[in-house]
Amino acid sequence: MKVLIVGGGGREHAIAVQVRRSRPQAEIICAPGNAGTAAIAQNVQVAADDIDGLFTLASDLSIDLTIVGPEAALCAGIVDRFQAARLRVFGPTKEAARLEGDKAYAKKMLTESRIPAASGKSFKRFSDAREYIATRDTPQVVKASGLAAGKGVVVCDDPSDALIAAEEMMVGRKFGTAGTSIVVEEKLIGEELSVHALVDGHNIYVLESSQDHKRIGAGDTGLNTGGMGAYSPAPIGSAGVMSLVDTEVLVPIVDALRRHEIDYRGVLYCGIMVTAAGPKVLEFNCRFGDPETQVLLARLKSDFVDMIDACIDAKLDEYTLEWDTRPAVCVVTTSAGYPGSYEKGKVITGLDEAGALPDVTVYQAGTALRDDRKVITSGGRVLGVTALGETIRDARDRAYEAVDKLTYTGIYTRPDIAHRALRAAEMPQG
Ligand code: AMP
Ligand code: GLY
Repeated sequence: MKVLIVGGGGREHAIAVQVRRSRPQAEIICAPGNAGTAAIAQNVQVAADDIDGLFTLASDLSIDLTIVGPEAALCAGIVDRFQAARLRVFGPTKEAARLEGDKAYAKKMLTESRIPAASGKSFKRFSDAREYIATRDTPQVVKASGLAAGKGVVVCDDPSDALIAAEEMMVGRKFGTAGTSIVVEEKLIGEELSVHALVDGHNIYVLESSQDHKRIGAGDTGLNTGGMGAYSPAPIGSAGVMSLVDTEVLVPIVDALRRHEIDYRGVLYCGIMVTAAGPKVLEFNCRFGDPETQVLLARLKSDFVDMIDACIDAKLDEYTLEWDTRPAVCVVTTSAGYPGSYEKGKVITGLDEAGALPDVTVYQAGTALRDDRKVITSGGRVLGVTALGETIRDARDRAYEAVDKLTYTGIYTRPDIAHRALRAAEMPQG
């Protein structure tokens, strides 16, 4: 069997590890991959958003299954292109991926289906946005409608800042065409939760809960990042909350998609704010989260490729997943300067020592192999040091113990990954 994994981050390394575990004999190709995937698969230098290049690669190598990690290729229609040529591929079609790629469309679908979410509106003209914002007297969030690499959301505690943010996006073109239309919505207060579900067109299978840490600094301060760490399960994702997300968000959105004749197949990731009034949708993503995947897949006991197959073949109703009951924590290490500009090419040491600790896996993200076969940094987020433990504290301690074995110039980690989960787990009961 030949499997192509599209992407080169920590998520894709975690996927590659699972595919290797599922199908030990498989030929696994990663495009473009990283130094971590190079150790268990073959990297091919085709960019993760180069649909033509990926299509040629999959056709030439007669790939049996392609798993797409990042959103760019999904939103640009890689699945439609592969399906048209009868190439087996995991992920939603271009139209279905609009739930992530077009926030104005997602807002319309949420409103139409009466799914709990922040109240707000989308705008195509700055003058209309300006008029609307002028009527707001509470904190607002301004979002570029298109894909902006996670940077197109501005939370404005002072409503007058919302006007500046909207103008920068729509008139100043700060995020290029991604900001041609925008969404303005009320700021929600609560704790964030990541809910991943597999959707096979009809059936919905909700995966274990997780939470990530988006800000660069301790105590959730500083700039937004791609994600500085994650853990699973998330105490905030209680059985009651997860069941509400299923019945009030997932079921109605999949129904709405079907009413629009959209067959959603793949991962549907709901970014949720658990507010005092219950869970509300912040965003949809059409793919696995990063670094949530690292903790989810560290806990997955079932066969990963079978799971993907059940989703593609619309057989999720016949399927049950088994999870390790132990919690997992992932601590991301970054390059100095991230999420701003940073240097690359720093030699990483301690990978073997860290990975040899019990129940620890070091997933690689922004890494590359130098000519002398040394692993060097090549991105902002470098490693996702992931550990299982009997308790969330054990998992956290073990992950940081492994981080201590790793060195490269400018290594940075947030010191407080899983702090909310620890507080919740260790709060006196009753
Ligand atoms: P999004 O890409 O829409 O998930 O937004 C990125 C981040 O912005 C989220 O993870 C939240 O931290 C924050 N955010 C987005 N929408 C809201 C909202 N309505 N209220 C509060 N925070 C939000
Ligand atoms: N960790 C957030 C995301 O993958 O979008």
